[in-house]
Amino acid sequence: MKIQAIRGVKDILPGEIEAVQRLEQAARSIFESFGFSEIRIPIFEVTELFARGIGATTDIVEKEMYTFEDRDGKKITLRPEGTASVVRSYIEHQLYLKAPVAKLYYLGPMFRHERPQAGRFRQFYQIGIEALGTDRPAMDVEVLAMLSAVLNQIGVTEVQLEINSLGDSVCRPEYRKTLKAYFKTYLSQLCENCRRRYETNPMRILDCKNEGCRAVTAKAPSPLDHLCADCLVHFQQVKDGLNQLKIPFVVNEHLVRGLDYYMRTAFEVTTTKLGAQNAIAAGGRYDGLVKELGGPPTPGIGFAMGVERIALLMERMETPKPDIFFALLGEEAVRRMLPVTIQLRGEGVRVEMDYSGGGLKKQMGLSDKLGARYTLIIGENELKAGKAMLRNMADKSQTELSLSELAQTLPERLRKT
Ligand code: HAM
Repeated sequence: MKIQAIRGVKDILPGEIEAVQRLEQAARSIFESFGFSEIRIPIFEVTELFARGIGATTDIVEKEMYTFEDRDGKKITLRPEGTASVVRSYIEHQLYLKAPVAKLYYLGPMFRHERPQAGRFRQFYQIGIEALGTDRPAMDVEVLAMLSAVLNQIGVTEVQLEINSLGDSVCRPEYRKTLKAYFKTYLSQLCENCRRRYETNPMRILDCKNEGCRAVTAKAPSPLDHLCADCLVHFQQVKDGLNQLKIPFVVNEHLVRGLDYYMRTAFEVTTTKLGAQNAIAAGGRYDGLVKELGGPPTPGIGFAMGVERIALLMERMETPKPDIFFALLGEEAVRRMLPVTIQLRGEGVRVEMDYSGGGLKKQMGLSDKLGARYTLIIGENELKAGKAMLRNMADKSQTELSLSELAQTLPERLRKT
């Protein structure tokens, strides 16, 4: 029986991984310049963390979690996202005592049992950040500026930032009532899912993609018309800050997120290039989550980028090629050159060689195929003469080098071109 990867789970192969690595490097360096530090959170947690953190009536918790009992009978879930875990860790390790604002970033796989399709996987990678400890709109702006800096750095610029405000515990309950009253008249026109959401999570109806539901939501009351004074000021200051930094955005009053912890600012970065799975990054404020999970009342904001989706938008990058290929003929040449290859690699030179004991023609062919810049040829004759032949693979010129000085002369020669 042929064993294959599980449906919705993807290998990221050489040739694809380079874009991912570039994204990770850009994110790390930009996050760190904004004062964020990496946190490694576990891949599994007790199920209750996500049920309480993300919300019991969300799609993620109701239908998408990989949950199982471990050998001790404990209910465990593979993390579907990172925010709940970061907040758990923040409370558990009392990070609020260490600095007024904890600025953390993480990267790694997340797991959701969704229907697989282009750009949607059951194991996918996120790069995320969380800033805990301030409710000032300036932090919302800073976080969005940081996200935009990462996307700019990797050349993903044809995207749209959509923002909205979902209100807070003061104004949202009233808005929810108004919204329910509106939807009540149209219940029969809503899809089955939204009829259920009407009871559990009526705001989610606003971003249903179903045609019938969209016709109803088009005229639904907007959360922005029901913000309390504080939320209104907060939203205005976020917009002002983005304008000041010339970060383009659109206000999408139907933007509601699939996780329940959000309040006030919510945002998504979308693209038109990936079909239905158009969100490449998303996040928002979650000022009630730390308290909800048993910590001191602490505001927070964050986002997560979808690594596979962003990598699809990046230019494909080449797998790095060898600087030099050692074409060694005979065991003695291999034995003599082993320390030199190890030393060069230690100095950061990419060294390749043939491992099958092929003849010169075969080895030259392999060097060519791998795209090596140079090939160093050492056969019996060269060994006897204490020489090696260095061939420039681009212009085919050859230079004779002394075997005993190779370790000193090669790095210099490779640097020259
Ligand atoms: P999310 O919107 O569920 O938010 O996910 C963030 C991003 O992860 C999405 O915009 C998308 O690019 C990517 N993503 C989500 N599901 C999949 C999937 N099945 N396959 C491929 N990519 C996917 C969160 O997870 C929040 N924790 C973000 C956050 C951090 N909010 C505050 N802090």
